[in-house]
Amino acid sequence: MFKNKYSGKFIAIEGLDGSGTTAQVQRLSQYFHSEKIHSLFTQEPTNNVIGGVARGCLTGDLKINSAVGLQLLFAADRANHLEKEIIPALQAGTNVITKRYFLSSIAYGSVQINDQDWLWKINDQFLMPDLTILLKISAKTRIERSEQSALGLNLFNDEESLNKVWQTYEAISKKYPNIIIIDAEKPQDEIFEEIKRAVLDIIK
Ligand code: TYD
Repeated sequence: MFKNKYSGKFIAIEGLDGSGTTAQVQRLSQYFHSEKIHSLFTQEPTNNVIGGVARGCLTGDLKINSAVGLQLLFAADRANHLEKEIIPALQAGTNVITKRYFLSSIAYGSVQINDQDWLWKINDQFLMPDLTILLKISAKTRIERSEQSALGLNLFNDEESLNKVWQTYEAISKKYPNIIIIDAEKPQDEIFEEIKRAVLDIIK
């Protein structure tokens, strides 16, 4: 992976589904808007063609029997996302905040792909975020939340798989700098304050 040499900062927000990534990213976007902090809010899988295919596979609208094929789709979507949206924005000095990025591939991918080295390899030409915020909830909370609300696209719903996803997220966060974990079982306002502080620290 390569370091961000552009003038804008690149931030990723990650976590298990149901950890509040969507709500917190939305809140951050509103805050940036009100403070007139110029930035691009985006997400993966993207809403473009390749991301749409990946989403279709997650919802079951499209059928892909190959776990390897799905990972290649996520990576192709990421390559396109970087080239067409993220890097041009960073070059122009715009900060980019993405909901989900390559850590989702490594963490979620770890359930279906045994060869972790391969997962890293297909992601190793990509830009490293300046900061990754990882929202932490237990697999149990994740399952409880999915019973209460319609969570988006879910590949896995069982506790064992979700534990594996989380353990992979956590293992990576110990190995790499610039990844911070925030307890996402706390009140939403407190979580937001922590995210805001971490992000402002990086972009100011
Ligand atoms: P979605 O409902 O769009 O987002 P969120 O949970 O972030 O609000 O779900 C995206 C799903 O795609 C999520 O379960 C994680 C998964 N995913 C991967 O497995 N690999 C990836 O590389 C990406 C980007 C996402």
